[in-house]
Amino acid sequence: MNSFAFHNPTRIIFGAGTLDKLGEQLAAFGTKTALLVYGGGSIKQSGLYDRVLQQLEQAGVRTVELAGIEPNPRVSTVRKGIELCRAHDVDFILAVGGGSVLDAAKAVAVGVPYEGDVWDFLIRKAQIQSALPLGTVLTLSATGSEMNGNSVITNWEENLKKSFGSIHAYPKFSILDPTLTYSVPANQTVNGIVDTMSHVFEQYFSLTTDTPLQERLCESILQTVIENGEKALAQPDNYEARANLMLCSTYALNGGMISVGMQQDWATHMIEHEVSAIYDIAHAAGLSVLFPNWMTYVHGERLDRFVQYAVRVWNIDPSGKSDEEVARAGIQATRDYFTRIGAPSRLSELNIGDDQLERMAEETVGFGPVGSFRKLQAGDVLEILRSSL
Ligand code: NZQ
Ligand code: ZN
Repeated sequence: MNSFAFHNPTRIIFGAGTLDKLGEQLAAFGTKTALLVYGGGSIKQSGLYDRVLQQLEQAGVRTVELAGIEPNPRVSTVRKGIELCRAHDVDFILAVGGGSVLDAAKAVAVGVPYEGDVWDFLIRKAQIQSALPLGTVLTLSATGSEMNGNSVITNWEENLKKSFGSIHAYPKFSILDPTLTYSVPANQTVNGIVDTMSHVFEQYFSLTTDTPLQERLCESILQTVIENGEKALAQPDNYEARANLMLCSTYALNGGMISVGMQQDWATHMIEHEVSAIYDIAHAAGLSVLFPNWMTYVHGERLDRFVQYAVRVWNIDPSGKSDEEVARAGIQATRDYFTRIGAPSRLSELNIGDDQLERMAEETVGFGPVGSFRKLQAGDVLEILRSSL
């Protein structure tokens, strides 16, 4: 196990009915004017918008709105939010939605006190020094954005999708009410399952040794998601299933709590971001295609971890099989589960052909080789992309 420091400053307020705590949270931060950030209308259809406004009013908070955050949120929209904050003296940002809304809100929060263009943070041209305080009400279990300092933003004009991570971008609080995810449609529920599992994969497939607790934490999250994912798909208003998925997605990517002291990978996420930068597909649709292929490409680096994964997570019986066979059975079980819940397995299912693969591979390694389980150069990325067609 490696030495580590871990700090996560986000207060989690979890459970049915916790939306009622929003007003008191805003008051605790002395909020006078909030920027309410939300997406394309799901919160209006579900009635959540009215409930949030009621909380803001009760807390005596003036509200300015930034509506219409796109899935794969765009820097152009973030810039509008920054202007709104400056024009209206906003002192708190409130994000109500899924990962895209939360990520856009974080980019607004760090962009307001910065004199240059917020995109500078995404291309590593400037370092984040401060941010407006931010709180969230989560409506979709997937990204973990509710308890981490990460934000992923697309520059559509340049077909680039880049991320930043900063201690300044952690939400001050996140309200996690599983009942708010009852209305998430089946395809987005599937995306949330795949994204959560992928976040665990990025940490679990590590070369670091002597990390039994971290490995078991990862395996527990995977098993809990696998079980509860299918339950939530069969019965969207099953509270236990939605609550377990929500807790899993939050734990899966919250500054590395499940993988302290471990080297993490993240190559597959970097590759996926370049796919969705060009094709605007759902993040998890790309991950579903790519992850089993990344596993196949790199599993020889550490066969024992893949054997452990197969046996502990998928209950593969190792008797009479070689380690290679067990490892491959685990990878196949991953693919089969994704297919069973309706996630794609080929780029062609997402209408993606072979014409931009080189560009995506080059852009993936734009800041240098990616991954640590196996360091991938552009040629490796290209092979994984080709095997995904
Ligand atoms: O826009 P609205 O109308 O709200 O509809 C959304 C959107 O169309 C809908 N939705 C959300 N909650 C709902 C709902 N529909 C019905 N009922 C509800 N309760 O779902 C659609 C997708 O929402 P989105 O926020 O885009 O999904 P997700 O949470 O999967 O976020 C994806 C984005 O997060 C980034 C991805 O790259 C992508 O841009 N990621 C962020 C990370 C982070 N901050 O740590 C890590 C991830 O790996 C990921 O890269
Ligand atoms: Zn992800």
